[in-house]
Amino acid sequence: MTISSFKKLKGIEKISAITAYDALFAGIFDGEVDVILVGDSLSMSFGGNDDTIPISLEAMIYHTKAVRKVTKKSLLIADMPFGSYPNINLGLKNAIKMYKQSGADAIKLEVNESKITLLKELINNGIAVMAHIGLMPQFYRHDGVYKIKGKDEAENQSLLDLALQLEEIGCFGLLIEGTKSDIATKITKNLKIPTIGIGSGSGTDGQILVWSDAFGFFNKFTPKFVRKYLDGESILKEAIKKYNADVKNITFPNENESY
Ligand code: KIV
Repeated sequence: MTISSFKKLKGIEKISAITAYDALFAGIFDGEVDVILVGDSLSMSFGGNDDTIPISLEAMIYHTKAVRKVTKKSLLIADMPFGSYPNINLGLKNAIKMYKQSGADAIKLEVNESKITLLKELINNGIAVMAHIGLMPQFYRHDGVYKIKGKDEAENQSLLDLALQLEEIGCFGLLIEGTKSDIATKITKNLKIPTIGIGSGSGTDGQILVWSDAFGFFNKFTPKFVRKYLDGESILKEAIKKYNADVKNITFPNENESY
């Protein structure tokens, strides 16, 4: 999938997206969904951190490179992590580093009004940019909570204004996280570029889930919007227990499994 074919899906069919952080799982997901995102959620689900803030640019590049090796069909987007785009100079330098070294088709940045000039600069330099609006996990420590957006008229209007500006400067898509369905739907209807939603209802052009949430491997907490397609943790627990028992009982390896 290219940026151009991604954009053409708007109004034709819903866009499916999932996160992946390594070649093993990305290889399984590639082609089964339209988009694979190397999200900074990696910090929590696989890094064991309490939020997305600790993950470094180098770690994001390392994981995106691994995913790139096996992502041949889906569009590959990589997150720019917290602290990697604090101003135009550093943001441009780090985005170019990510784009060049990781091989991602596009990058995603969590943005408010103050990042419009930076995004314009990235796009003018040939970088495909997806803007992440609504609930922004990189602001978790600042806000103190994961707060759903779009709860009053003023907030709705500024979200819509921001979305329109992001389209205007050339973002190829928006990710709308943790936002009331009404405003996510309104933004989607007012834009020509696709919107991907997470915890933002069914009115966006597409949906994304964090794979370890969707397949039941990350159960520390489960937000309301997550649908579990697999009880991964139980299945894996059962398998590791069985393996342990087989080793202890000397039933593994058997003759066929030996040279
Ligand atoms: O980091 C991430 O996984 C995200 C989600 C919104 C999908 O950005």
